[in-house]
Amino acid sequence: MKLLRKTFAEINLDALKANWDFLQKNFPGHFICPMVKANAYGHGDVMIARALESWGAQHLGVCLIEEGLLLRRFGVKAEILVFRGFDREGAEVMIENRLTPVVSSWEQFHALETVAPPGQKFHLKFDTGMNRLGFDVNEAITLAEKIKNQKKLHLVGVLTHLVSGEDSVHLDMTDQQFRDFEQAVQVFQFFKVPFHVLNSGGILTQLCLRKNQRSSTWSEKKWGLRPGLMLYGYNPGVSEEFSELKIVMTLKSQIAVIREVPAGRGVSYNHTWKSAAPARIAVVPIGYADGYHRALSNRGFALCQGKKAAVVGNVCMDYLMLDISGTTAQENSEVILFGQGEKNEVLSARDLAAAGQTVAWEVLTSVSERVPRIYKGEWAHKIESESQL
Ligand SMILES: Cc1ncc(COP(=O)(O)O)c(C=O)c1O
Repeated sequence: MKLLRKTFAEINLDALKANWDFLQKNFPGHFICPMVKANAYGHGDVMIARALESWGAQHLGVCLIEEGLLLRRFGVKAEILVFRGFDREGAEVMIENRLTPVVSSWEQFHALETVAPPGQKFHLKFDTGMNRLGFDVNEAITLAEKIKNQKKLHLVGVLTHLVSGEDSVHLDMTDQQFRDFEQAVQVFQFFKVPFHVLNSGGILTQLCLRKNQRSSTWSEKKWGLRPGLMLYGYNPGVSEEFSELKIVMTLKSQIAVIREVPAGRGVSYNHTWKSAAPARIAVVPIGYADGYHRALSNRGFALCQGKKAAVVGNVCMDYLMLDISGTTAQENSEVILFGQGEKNEVLSARDLAAAGQTVAWEVLTSVSERVPRIYKGEWAHKIESESQL
């Protein structure tokens, strides 16, 4: 469709490929389940799944059954793990569509057992500290016996989820989780399945430990990986920089109108900002209905001609205003809301998140459906042409 409003999310598949290669290079032979839930963290799940699949990803992670169904409808063939719980009806739908359930409770185990055909694959989740979903590790022996003594369900993976999403350098908690998970690992060793644990924070922490030749009780085991944020180019907060990670999404727009305002003028709803001096105000056609949070009113920044321009006044449903005083920007000049520009200027989703007192995950996943995703890079052409065959 023609872009009548020049507001869009540019998704660089070459950057995604670089991040995928970085994982492959550092963790050869590991179980890897890239997370494509929540519309692939806002990047467009169908294209991201197709790209990952074409690069050899054998597993993909979603939260909802509905997310898995969408990928199947668009021809994705990889094994799709569904992390959210389910009831009997959900189990039936997953079986019909070759989605692989992650079982987190006895209710789910029984629901699946009731409707599953022989050989139905599943993963088993233990709760080692999130206090969200999963079995207690004390149930490992009972579960293992139960699984051995039935013929329908085929265990293909065992997992837990780390509490330290942003920074696994808090090793005390992570150590504790691995010590607890180890109990389940001992019991389930018999099944010869992958044990997957590491989110982006865990993966990058492991790389830091390796680089600094430090080890912890957990860091040298061959854990399976479930990368989310880092796949899209962001270090979630691990203390070292990883220049290999490339930003995948750049949210762009163009200045619609420029207002020259004298000192003392209020801008936007309720005049929460007033110009201290004469100012050039750019009206940019993106607002909270596009996923640019209203909480960024008078706090956010964008890049205009490579320079940071402050969001002034309240963010509206369809517009926000930037103070572009001191620039020569004109109507139709490009604005980068976050991401990386053609001249490598960067405004990271993490910095924007910090300004809005939230996290990069929320900034990325918030970009709403009415913002078109435009794929770029050599890989975009290849994946797009392959999917038209
Ligand atoms: C079960 C599970 N594994 C892995 C991830 C990926 O986490 P991250 O985006 O921090 O890499 C998530 C994200 O929420 C998750 O819920």
